[in-house]
Amino acid sequence: MEEKLSKETLCIHAGSELIPHSQSVVTPVYPASSYKYRETTENTYPRYFNTINQKVIVEKLCALEGAQDGILFSSGMAAISTTLFALLQQGDHVVFCKGLYGGTYHLVTSEFEKRGIQFSFAADHSTEAFSAILTPHTKVIYIETPSNPLLEILDIQAISQLAKKKAIITVIDNTFASPINQNPISLGFDVVIHSGTKYLGGHSDLCFGAVVTSSVLKERIYALAVNYGGSINALDCYLIERSLKTLAVRVEKHNENAMILASFLQELPEVKNVYYPGLKSHPGHEIASAQMHGFGGMLSFELATNSLTQVDLFLDKLRFIQPAMSLGGVESLICSPATTSHATLSQQERQEIGISDGLLRFSVGIENSQDLIKDLKSAFRSLSVLAHVR
Ligand SMILES: Cc1ncc(COP(=O)(O)O)c(C=O)c1O
Repeated sequence: MEEKLSKETLCIHAGSELIPHSQSVVTPVYPASSYKYRETTENTYPRYFNTINQKVIVEKLCALEGAQDGILFSSGMAAISTTLFALLQQGDHVVFCKGLYGGTYHLVTSEFEKRGIQFSFAADHSTEAFSAILTPHTKVIYIETPSNPLLEILDIQAISQLAKKKAIITVIDNTFASPINQNPISLGFDVVIHSGTKYLGGHSDLCFGAVVTSSVLKERIYALAVNYGGSINALDCYLIERSLKTLAVRVEKHNENAMILASFLQELPEVKNVYYPGLKSHPGHEIASAQMHGFGGMLSFELATNSLTQVDLFLDKLRFIQPAMSLGGVESLICSPATTSHATLSQQERQEIGISDGLLRFSVGIENSQDLIKDLKSAFRSLSVLAHVR
């Protein structure tokens, strides 16, 4: 597909040239797990990641991210674990950003040491913090930006330049931004991973992951992917393709709503802090403006209370904004990191990484923004007693 096409068009049409000749304007679903081999050069099999339904999606994601090739997995974690173990071996060292997604953090801290892979976490989000902990054995730098849950911004281009000087492979989890808002390959990164369960699926009803990269690195990851076997079935592929067709318009609306809500929240006396890279007051705003096409649908805010009872009361009063884990769906979701994703840390450990008991992570959906504001206002009324706290 031509490179100059816009993302809205790529979402709908990229990959369609792979569909075998038929009168259908959507990809037919091929549920087969067995394919005739005598008249083809390639042995088709779902776990070889090469069915038509899998390939069409990979083609779309590659077009959106500016990648040469990729692999579609059955979850984000399948994509992350397969990629990391394909790129690292015994004796290697890998550097991660601070505040990694919990599942990835658990993978690293529970599985790496026993495989003889050394790892370090950057002390903060500056490029200098990465530079300071590189060793002659560092083979991979792995980051997330915007970060979870405080939406901190890392400088993708600066980190890729640092890595290139030392022939280190750079990997980014681009889930929070989506390929509509951020394309790290164009900024020098080597490998882009998505938990498709979030924005790519977009309707809170699918679980999948994807890796897109160069043809050379794809082959390296593929060699392990075939052994680990985290492939996905044709019916899920059908739903993923359906979701991807509306990705650009959905993300545009997520961006718009999040900006409106962040601006609304930052004016409230009941709110101590709002973390959203689209706000001029955000410390990463300048870098985000340079490296993102949109600021995304994720924001966090801190209530002017650290009482978990008050936080619960606030959540109970919400009508459309549902207290639930995960993110990136059309429906607005909210969660308290202190009692969900970061509940296993002590309060002091949470404080050290900036997560107070009053912090709420908000995955802004695509409902009408004024309805969301009304919903928040009514929940804030239950906390109005706090207005003087600030
Ligand atoms: C940033 C990020 N990366 C990766 C994952 C893992 O994806 P999955 O749950 O699809 O395995 C998640 C899940 O919440 C996530 O938020």
